[in-house]
Amino acid sequence: MLSRSSMHPDDPILATSLAGLPLRSPLILAAGTAGYLDEMREVLDLSRIGAVVTKSITAEPRDGNPTWRIIESRSGGGMLNAIGLANVGLERFLEHFAPRLASAPTTIIGSIAGFSIDGYVRVAAAMNEIDAIPAVELNVSCPNVHGGVEFGVDPAAMKELTREVRRVLTRTRLFIKLSPIAVGSPSIVDIARAAIDPGGEPAGPNSRPGADALSIANTVPAMAIDPETRRPRLANVTGGLSGPAIHPIAVRLVHEVYRKAAKDTSTPLIGIGGVMRWEDAAEFILAGASAFEMGTALFADPRSPSRVTRGLTAWARRQGVRSISELVGAVSL
Ligand SMILES: Cc1cc2nc3c(=O)[nH]c(=O)nc-3n(C[C@H](O)[C@H](O)[C@H](O)COP(=O)(O)O)c2cc1C
Repeated sequence: MLSRSSMHPDDPILATSLAGLPLRSPLILAAGTAGYLDEMREVLDLSRIGAVVTKSITAEPRDGNPTWRIIESRSGGGMLNAIGLANVGLERFLEHFAPRLASAPTTIIGSIAGFSIDGYVRVAAAMNEIDAIPAVELNVSCPNVHGGVEFGVDPAAMKELTREVRRVLTRTRLFIKLSPIAVGSPSIVDIARAAIDPGGEPAGPNSRPGADALSIANTVPAMAIDPETRRPRLANVTGGLSGPAIHPIAVRLVHEVYRKAAKDTSTPLIGIGGVMRWEDAAEFILAGASAFEMGTALFADPRSPSRVTRGLTAWARRQGVRSISELVGAVSL
C-alpha cells in the first residue's frame, strides 16, 4: 500500500540528472509551449517541474507566419502549428527576460533557433554568459540557408553546426533537438551520431566534442485542407503535428537512437511527443529517455504535468526502484 508521503510530487524518487544537470523531476515543459520563463506559474507549481525550455530565440526578432498558424488536429487532441518561430529576438530576451532568470522557481533551458550557423552561434554565445541558463537546446528543424535543407536532416550540416556552437559553449551544456523526419537515409541514428561526435575539439577539459544530450523529437511535418474552401487550413500550407498522434513515432525514435547511438556513448535522451498521461512518460523512460518534455498537453490542460508527476511517482514505486533513472531503457524485449 502506498503511503501518502510516497505519493508526494516532491518525492526524491523522481529526482534525476541530465548530463550532470540535477533536475527535481524528469518532466520538462517543451519549447514554445510554456513561454520564455515562468509564464505558467499561475496554473502550475513550477518548483515541482524539472525544467522549462524557453520559446526558441533567434538572433533577430521574428513576427512568424501569418494566421491561421495553429489549428486543432482531428487526430485526438493534437495540434498542427506553423508559428514560424515568432519570438522577441536575442536583444530583447537579454534585456527583458535574462535578468529574471535567476529567480525562476525551476531550471531554465534556453532554446535556440536559427537560419544560419552564425545566427545559432550568436545566440549560443550570449546564453553561455548567463549563469542561470545551465543548458541550451538547439532546435535544428530550421532551413539551412546555404543548402536549403534542415540542419536536422543532413549529417554534414549537423556536424558543422554542432562544432561551431560547441566552440562557444564553454560552460553551458548542449542539448540538440532532432527532427523526426530523418527516417530514410540518412536516418535519425546517422543524425544523432553526427550530433554526438561532430569531429573537432571539446570546448573545455570536461566537455564533450558534441551534444551533451539529444531531445527526440520535434513536430512531424503535416498538412490539413478545408474541403469546403479547398484551401489549406494553415496559411503556411504545412505545419508541425504534435500531440498523441506522434507519441508512438517518438517512442520508436527514442528506442532506436538509444540502442544504436546513445547508450554506448552515455548520451542522455529527452523524449518529446504526445505526453498527455503518466503512461506516455513511462514509455519514453523505458525506451531509453532520461527525461521527457510536455507541450501540447499544456494547451489541453495546463495542470496535466501535476497529474503526470503523481502517476509517474506511483509507477516508479510499484516498479520497486529507488530512483526513476533505474528504469531508463528498461523495456523488456
Ligand atoms: C504552438 C507550438 C509552438 C512550438 N514552438 C517551438 C519552438 O519555438 N521551438 C521548438 O524547438 N519547438 C517548438 N514546438 C515543438 C514542441 O516543443 C514539441 O517538440 C512538440 O510540440 C511535440 O511535443 P508535444 O506532442 O508534447 O507537443 C512548438 C510546438 C507547438 C505546439
